[in-house]
Amino acid sequence: MSYFNRLSDNVYWVGVNDRETELFENLWPLPKGVSYNSYLIVDEKVVLVDTVKADYQEPYLEKIMKLTEGRTIDYLIINHMEPDHSGAIKELIRLFPDMEIVGNKKTTGFLKGFYDIENNIKEINDKETLSIGEKTLKFFITPMVHWPETMMTYIKEDSILFSGDVFGTFGAFNGSIFDDEIDLEFYEDEIMRYYSNIVGKYSPIAAKHISSLGELDIKMIASTHGPIWRDKPEYILDKYLKMSKYEAKKGAVVVYGTMYGNTKRLAEEAAAGLSEAGIEEVKTYDVSKTDKSFLISDIWKYKGIIMASCSYNNELFPPMLALIEALENRGIKNRLFGFIGTYSWSGGSLKRMNQFEKNCNINVIEPKIKNQYGPTENNLKKAYQLGKNTGDKI
Ligand code: FEO
Repeated sequence: MSYFNRLSDNVYWVGVNDRETELFENLWPLPKGVSYNSYLIVDEKVVLVDTVKADYQEPYLEKIMKLTEGRTIDYLIINHMEPDHSGAIKELIRLFPDMEIVGNKKTTGFLKGFYDIENNIKEINDKETLSIGEKTLKFFITPMVHWPETMMTYIKEDSILFSGDVFGTFGAFNGSIFDDEIDLEFYEDEIMRYYSNIVGKYSPIAAKHISSLGELDIKMIASTHGPIWRDKPEYILDKYLKMSKYEAKKGAVVVYGTMYGNTKRLAEEAAAGLSEAGIEEVKTYDVSKTDKSFLISDIWKYKGIIMASCSYNNELFPPMLALIEALENRGIKNRLFGFIGTYSWSGGSLKRMNQFEKNCNINVIEPKIKNQYGPTENNLKKAYQLGKNTGDKI
């Protein structure tokens, strides 16, 4: 990766890689790291698009200082105020006191609330333009993907879209930042995990905003996390649109919560039934061993989901409850679910799964299975049949 990455004439990536943080938002594991992308446009005006997380200010500002060669920054465009992108604002103001911060009506409250900034703010409206010399910026206000103030910035002359978190992914850079110079397989599952966990709750709004971008001539997509899409912008556009419409591929997730292995036996029968129905991609997970961000991601990916869980203190087994609540929060739909609820002396598991069915727009495949104590021969057969029935419908 070149120290300065040029997207087009006088447009540079000045972002950083984070390989240190264990949990994104202190919630989501980052086994492959993440990048915080920021962009510098050196025209008659010098413009910065978003910043980086505060911990990475030093290498970030060093790059900016080298590229600006003593000039001030005229405008700081804030597409998104979450602190992984706004963390360097205070220091930038100290270095460039005349810099104007460009945002929308909602940005203002965040600037005051997070950083006590009230001055030098330029408020723009949807589709407003700003000439910065040879280039013209156009702003698109896109609230709730995934915060109220989110927006996008477009360079008309270069057809580059700075899209904020939309079209982003987990995964730090390993060399190049451009989609045509990297192994996209590295990002394949991380795009899904990032989307489903971070943006997924706002899918209907995301679908609306992404669809409206169809009117724009987009030659390059530069989001706040992950690759710059200059070779195949349509690839990430299409992938995001499908994810935002809850589209799923042929395949299934079997996820089980078990304390002593009894529920696992039922889950494995269901997995065998899915295979018998010809489903090749079947992912079987122990809910206690796999972080839920990976489960949410695969549930977003595949059409069929079979949940098998024991009860605990008259409720659903806690990690399965956390998964179900996360799916409800994200409004999962267009999926086929199968439920296996087990218990020994306290019920609760199947009752909560039935509530989940009511709360979400999902299709539940029969038979629903309720099993007391160890798996009975009859219920093992039923679990196999549940897998087979689900597979036949996928
Ligand atoms: Fe990458 Fe919503 O911050």
